[in-house]
Amino acid sequence: MCGIVGYIGEKEALPILLKGLKRLEYRGYDSTGVALLNGHIENYKRKGKVMDLEEFVQSKNTFANIGIGHTRWATHGEPSDGNAHPQVSMNGTFSVVHNGIIENYSKLKEDLVSKGYSFQSETDTEVLANLIELFYNQGEEISAETSVHLALSKVVGAYGIAVLCNNEIDKIIVARKGSPLVVGLGNREYFIASDATPIAEFTSQFIFLNDDDVAVIQKNNFTLKNIQNNPVSITVSNIDLEIGELDKGDFDHFMLKEIFEQPDTVEETFRGRLKSDYPEIVLGGLLHVFPEIVNAKRIVIVGCGTSWHAALIGEYLLEEYAQVAVEVEYASEFRYRKPVLSKDDVVLLISQSGETADTLAALHLAKEKGAMVLGICNVVGSTLSRETDAGVYTHAGVEIGVASTKAFTAQVTVLTMFALKLAKAKGTISDSEYGKIVKELAEIPQKERLILQSNDAIKQVAEKYKDAVNALYLGRSYLFPVALEGALKLKEISYIHAEGYAAGEMKHGPIALVDDNLPVVVIAPHDAYYNKIVSNIQEVKARKGNVIAVVTKGDTALKELANDVVEIPKSHPALAPLLAVLPLQLLAYHIAVLRGCNVDQPRNLAKSVTVE
Ligand code: G6P
Repeated sequence: MCGIVGYIGEKEALPILLKGLKRLEYRGYDSTGVALLNGHIENYKRKGKVMDLEEFVQSKNTFANIGIGHTRWATHGEPSDGNAHPQVSMNGTFSVVHNGIIENYSKLKEDLVSKGYSFQSETDTEVLANLIELFYNQGEEISAETSVHLALSKVVGAYGIAVLCNNEIDKIIVARKGSPLVVGLGNREYFIASDATPIAEFTSQFIFLNDDDVAVIQKNNFTLKNIQNNPVSITVSNIDLEIGELDKGDFDHFMLKEIFEQPDTVEETFRGRLKSDYPEIVLGGLLHVFPEIVNAKRIVIVGCGTSWHAALIGEYLLEEYAQVAVEVEYASEFRYRKPVLSKDDVVLLISQSGETADTLAALHLAKEKGAMVLGICNVVGSTLSRETDAGVYTHAGVEIGVASTKAFTAQVTVLTMFALKLAKAKGTISDSEYGKIVKELAEIPQKERLILQSNDAIKQVAEKYKDAVNALYLGRSYLFPVALEGALKLKEISYIHAEGYAAGEMKHGPIALVDDNLPVVVIAPHDAYYNKIVSNIQEVKARKGNVIAVVTKGDTALKELANDVVEIPKSHPALAPLLAVLPLQLLAYHIAVLRGCNVDQPRNLAKSVTVE
């Protein structure tokens, strides 16, 4: 699971590669490397981030107009200089960068070893580099392109690759199966990347490779074949991508910047779709399929991580207001179960990146089974957005922090609009209730601004709990998924073990953990479940647990009872997630910073998980 970039043309390759790699660090950031081709290949690679590589190559001779680069998230072999990509074939003929997993690599490696190949790394990619070289050395008539075809025909697994050959110094060969690759068209130049964002500043013309495509790219020429060596027709897509700046502004971290952007990003998500005086919510991307959605017997929502938490809120909204049966699935489970799906089902995939491997596999499975597939996605032009039947963009802007924040509130905003629109179309919501929620939804950004004013107070709470070993998060109804999300934020970036629970479930296990060392974050606004959640707080307090309560502004009773409180403005219960999650994001952020953690790039994680 990694990011790939490439350049061939008349410009200097290295700056383009390094800039592209920085944009791709969301895919992994444990090691990086480039291979530059200027008559012969020079490989530079390093354990660490792109910044480390940038420093390392400063003193080197790096001029070249052709190059490939890679940022890695380790699958085979620990992060190290040796395991970083490019991986070079034994005799130095090929340099390969690879995203994906070669599943039969150990068998291939055994064969190569028996043929005299030796290995410098633990990676599956080095196996591929050597396999390509093995075929290349079988006869003078065998080109680099043919060798790549032959090697890939032996490979089981997923790959997006870019290959340089020391003897064919005017080309980059790329191939894709399972792991995305896109080629951008310039003027006598081509750009290559794992997604369109790193190259969008250079071009708006893209060729998205399909599975089994193998392309040979020269400065003035692009040829596309499938793995069986048959020509494939080329489709050029024109997409104007908005590329956010890789700039933290006045903030210390991207995550904090993104938390503070939420009032604006929620407004962006509304734009052209919702106004408090609109009779209808407009979701243009769903227009042509909306009648079928109205008739759906069931909606299955699929996602991973934070997107899965948004999906749970979607379930509550859709069942309550649109009265449609909803199931929520982890993509990694759904894809390997034998889910019962029919043409009357709608499968809704949620993904910030639109590139999560499990979510894409779930999409393909749902399609195979004949269900309509919809997407809620942030990254314009991503694989998910291209492969679903219809969908809605969240328009949250580029999210850099690995821990998702603004993408989550944007997803929940879309789900809320979707549920209300569906409810209205089905007649399952009264006009007055609809009008009330729409009006309150439009007020959410203003309320979020008020919550963000508590940032300093939340930092003080963080000081008190920064040394915790475990933490528990509790919520009920719409706020149960928010408890899950709050716990995920804390564990992702501070490495404190945290669990989210439905508050009513506490007595079935987690209560055994409660003692005077355990912080328990309870989301307890004034809603229909207030008295029940106050009882849960009492139960924690009776066992000497430390309660941090997220309460409705003006709640004096919980101020007395809890150790710490953070206030949020009053809201409709169905909209409370859009408010309650903000203090939890800030709490996790401050605890992580106080513990000295790298909040934007936490250890072992990646922003987009492009391997299963
Ligand atoms: C990774 C990220 C999470 C994200 C999840 C799903 O685990 O670290 O922040 O929620 O992938 O990503 P997606 O892009 O599909 O929403």
